[in-house]
Amino acid sequence: MAEPTFILNGKETPFNPGQTILEAAREAGVTIPTLCHLKGTTPTGACRVCLVAAKGARSLVASCSTPVTPGMEIRTDSERVLRTRKLVVELLLSSGHHNCIVCEANGNCRLQDLAYECRITEIKFPLPEKCYPTEDENPLIVRDFSRCILCGRCVQACNEVVVNRAITLGYRGSESKVVTGGDGPYTDSECVFCGQCVEVCPVGALTEKKARGMGRPWETQKIRTTCPYCGVGCQQLLHVKNGRIAKVTAVEGAEPNQGRLCVKGRFGYDFLYSEERLKTPLIRQESGEFREASWDEALDLVVAKFKGIIEKHGPDAVAGVSCARSINEDSYQMQKLFRAVFKTNNIDHCART
Ligand code: FES
Repeated sequence: MAEPTFILNGKETPFNPGQTILEAAREAGVTIPTLCHLKGTTPTGACRVCLVAAKGARSLVASCSTPVTPGMEIRTDSERVLRTRKLVVELLLSSGHHNCIVCEANGNCRLQDLAYECRITEIKFPLPEKCYPTEDENPLIVRDFSRCILCGRCVQACNEVVVNRAITLGYRGSESKVVTGGDGPYTDSECVFCGQCVEVCPVGALTEKKARGMGRPWETQKIRTTCPYCGVGCQQLLHVKNGRIAKVTAVEGAEPNQGRLCVKGRFGYDFLYSEERLKTPLIRQESGEFREASWDEALDLVVAKFKGIIEKHGPDAVAGVSCARSINEDSYQMQKLFRAVFKTNNIDHCART
């Protein structure tokens, strides 16, 4: 059966049944800007930046939430579409305090990019007089409601991506706000501080607190690595300036975490810079005090202790627990050591539940 087609900017274009106009256009290489669209979640059609013209329709339609139908005629580049897109961005810019110079998201802001792409040179409409105060009381996430454009991406990410359901859109009209249950701070809510809301925020409404002043996006080197915490092996990007991590984000579309991170993977990197970090082996002396030792001395001591216990009490008198931070290969070698060399099955992994 022939593939269904529609007309995109005057050109016959194939599409897969069930696709939205946005998906089909992107597959055909046609760019339609978006703000609220979050891949893999239910479209909300909240921002209206993706409006396109459909022949026969009275008003422009949101391409992110409108399915393509055979023969549909769509224009993404007409004078009306471009003018309306510019107006939508102007209205969003006027919805809050988007003073880019002092914004943590400067250089990593979709609204800023769109304002530039639409060639906006001034804020046309009066700014709102009052905004909800910034929530700055937890150590990880800053919620600046004066920069929130109510696109709802954070809500979609919390509800549909990580399925934690800690936030939703509350109140009405100009009072609208992203709220937790009871509209309290994150710390008093169901929030688990995975930071997925920060990851998807297209503006500076949600930012990593520890990243403040640590480096602008264009100053940081993005280093892809594997999260050191557990055996899942989540892929993450370290944003590094002058050898220090400014923040950690997920690698979009990469297995196994598909752009998600947990609280430890995203925020738990302070141990790297801890003054208390152990850098050499320590041996406990008779007095109970620790003293620094070389690796050779420490390993010789461990070997001697294991040998002594096994000789005296048999192999089942020893046991091993491999570290959750170890790679699979290390854990494999550890069980080989215990089973094949020590002759005991007393071996486990500390992340096993
Ligand atoms: Fe379609 Fe926001 S991206 S309405």
